[in-house]
Amino acid sequence: MNYGHFSEDGKEYIITNVKTPTPWINYIYNGEYFSTVSNNAGGISYIKSPLHGRITRYRINDVPSDRPGKYIYVKDEETGKIWTLSWQPAGYDPKAYKVIHGLGYTVIESFVEGIHARVTYFVPMNYNHEVWNVVLTNKSGKKRRLSVTGYVEFALGHGLIDLINQCDDQHFNRAYFDKDLNALFATKTYWVTETNGTQQQENKEWNQWAFFTSNLPINRYETLRERFLGFYNNEEKPIAITDDKFSNSGTDYGNVVGAINIRLELDSDKSENVVFSLGVLPKERFDEKKNDIPKIVQPGYIERSFKEIENYWTEFLGHTRVETPDKNVNIFMNNWVPYQAKVAFDVGRVASYYYWGISRGYGFRDTSQDVIAVTIAHPEKAKERILLLSRQMFSDGRVYHHFYDDGKGELTRHCDDPGWYILAVTEYIKETGDYSILKEKVSFVDKNDGTVLEHLLAVVNFMKNNLGRHNLPVFGRGDWNDTLDYIGGDDGGESVWGAMFYVAMLNKLIELFQFLKVENIADIIKLRDEIRRNINQFCWDGDWFIRAFGNGGMVIGSNKSKEGKIFVNTQSWAAISNLPDKSKIRQALDSVKKHLDSEYGPKICAPAFKEIDPNIGLVTRCVPGKKENGAVFCHPVTWLIQAECIMRNGDRAYDYFRKLLPNRVDPDIYQAEPYVYSQYITSDEHSSPGKASHSWQTGTAAWMYRVFYDYIAGVRPDYDGLIVDPVIPASWNYIRVERIFRGAKYIIEIENPDNVQSGISYIMIDEKEIEGNKLPLTDKKICRVKVLMGKTIETANK
Ligand code: GLC
Repeated sequence: MNYGHFSEDGKEYIITNVKTPTPWINYIYNGEYFSTVSNNAGGISYIKSPLHGRITRYRINDVPSDRPGKYIYVKDEETGKIWTLSWQPAGYDPKAYKVIHGLGYTVIESFVEGIHARVTYFVPMNYNHEVWNVVLTNKSGKKRRLSVTGYVEFALGHGLIDLINQCDDQHFNRAYFDKDLNALFATKTYWVTETNGTQQQENKEWNQWAFFTSNLPINRYETLRERFLGFYNNEEKPIAITDDKFSNSGTDYGNVVGAINIRLELDSDKSENVVFSLGVLPKERFDEKKNDIPKIVQPGYIERSFKEIENYWTEFLGHTRVETPDKNVNIFMNNWVPYQAKVAFDVGRVASYYYWGISRGYGFRDTSQDVIAVTIAHPEKAKERILLLSRQMFSDGRVYHHFYDDGKGELTRHCDDPGWYILAVTEYIKETGDYSILKEKVSFVDKNDGTVLEHLLAVVNFMKNNLGRHNLPVFGRGDWNDTLDYIGGDDGGESVWGAMFYVAMLNKLIELFQFLKVENIADIIKLRDEIRRNINQFCWDGDWFIRAFGNGGMVIGSNKSKEGKIFVNTQSWAAISNLPDKSKIRQALDSVKKHLDSEYGPKICAPAFKEIDPNIGLVTRCVPGKKENGAVFCHPVTWLIQAECIMRNGDRAYDYFRKLLPNRVDPDIYQAEPYVYSQYITSDEHSSPGKASHSWQTGTAAWMYRVFYDYIAGVRPDYDGLIVDPVIPASWNYIRVERIFRGAKYIIEIENPDNVQSGISYIMIDEKEIEGNKLPLTDKKICRVKVLMGKTIETANK
């Protein structure tokens, strides 16, 4: 079945059949105020943190799913017919609806009972509220009397407490209507902010007043769910609307909702603009801020705010552009992949249709990786995040695995976590040339002073102190793969991927220090060389690299293993860490092609584990073919693509890249959104191959964005210039890249008349040939570059 398509310019995904196999959502947010909105207007709203600042409810895994949301009911006052402006919960014909997910906004259009409606949902940049901007047009040929009701169900504060302790929690809820301000207000006089003890009775109130308002006079309102829906009803037939029974009273108890009703008369062919807005005001500034409310629903303000959102995304996406012969690649790389990467960075990977935002905060490793995408357009945000990460580190280099805020986190001893810090910092510096960050003072968890440089050295220290019996990284609680969590056993085990990762990160640090001519780095080089030697000596299995040593030297990821014989990460990172033996790397990557590639893309490992092995961990408890147990886990595929580019195999890199594009598989099989990556695609080791899950909040977006531009298009920053080193499919005769780098826009036209996959004959800048393949830094605003692919220059392989 066809559910939709991209707009011609690729900036919008248009859903023409709203009965999608799963909710297809979008994010509207400004960095503080967040809201998700599905194609059926389902979703949550929260301020700052989905755990602590939950404004509205969204029922987990309930039926019907994807409820409640941001609903607008219309009632024809003459016929009594009722419908919603989204197909769910009360629209009767799904064909009457069309949804447009855009960058920072969602539009739902409907044509029901002769009334055309267009609702634009978005969050202004500078005010913490969401706008539901409705334009109703009467196409029925006669005058209509309509009653229009906006509806939300509040959570008011701590998301988890609201779920598990409603019986008590509801005693702290208050809601009232302010006639002068034409707004309904709700809050809670109790608030939990501790992350560990969910039963702690803290002595404070939620620090926000939620408000719900309209630009038109509110005639009637309701504040209690049971009064609005009726006790045995759901959102489909609210009794307040069917029976015209609004109590028009506040509440000091119970399940608080906001239902606000306006009435209008609409002549034939006339339109009316009705604005609903849900938002929050901080209590400490309530008296001063509440008078803003009538202003932020006026059409002029709304128009300006919407323009700001458009400009924001145009500016963000304008830092990279690509044109290739593959239109689908262009749509994703110019719009949806960087957009998803930014959303994942801002949301902190915690809230989606799959993640409820109640179980964990920022992940150290996840957020470090998300930094690499955002650093291109918004380096100041990347820097802010690097400093936040710095504050989660102890002076011995250990870091909180996840954290909510400064000083509140969990120490887990995953062997990889601290290493990602090197990635974030070095990519930030390459992008910006801001070496001063190294001197930036930022505290450790256990020590007040430190610089970013000292944090980097603490990571090296951590690595040095975390080596096991083969002098490879002690596995501990896990590495990048969270589900290899019991490999460590009593003696700690050793991670071979971790070893490659340490080498890759140490390479990055050595490169930076050598560029800066830092002295006394012999120790770091020695550590890197030693780990590298040990990988070569102990970890080659004959056709590929093993994955780990478990307790007592047990080998994981070997041809001799019964299950989980080969893992993708120790093959791709052999290339990424630039191991000296290239023939082994080539062989390892060919083994991936042979044993892991499938119709839906390359799998994370194979064969999937079918028997539970408590000495390996969660991966073996998971059903085969899903998640880390043999699915096409998308995040590591990005590294595989990078590895194939490093080994100059453009055809294969592109083949893997294309296989993962979210709109490639039949949507009835794929099920998740076709415009963003999912965490994994179920593999052929399960009975539902091709089904994707955990969309949006995955590192795939950040990495795919970087791997595509840096390694396929091959335009990547270095400390002193922009490297050009495309590795493309032989069938592409041209590719054009625009890249803003250190204030200049490089417009790079790459011709490939001889259908090679890599290699450059010459590069010209403003008609002058340059030596080598690095574009120097420039003061010019625009720098025009012509590249002819061919065989002559041996391009930098880094
Ligand atoms: C999830 C986690 C990430 C981890 C990956 C593999 O995506 O967020 O931290 O690396 O799973 O286990």
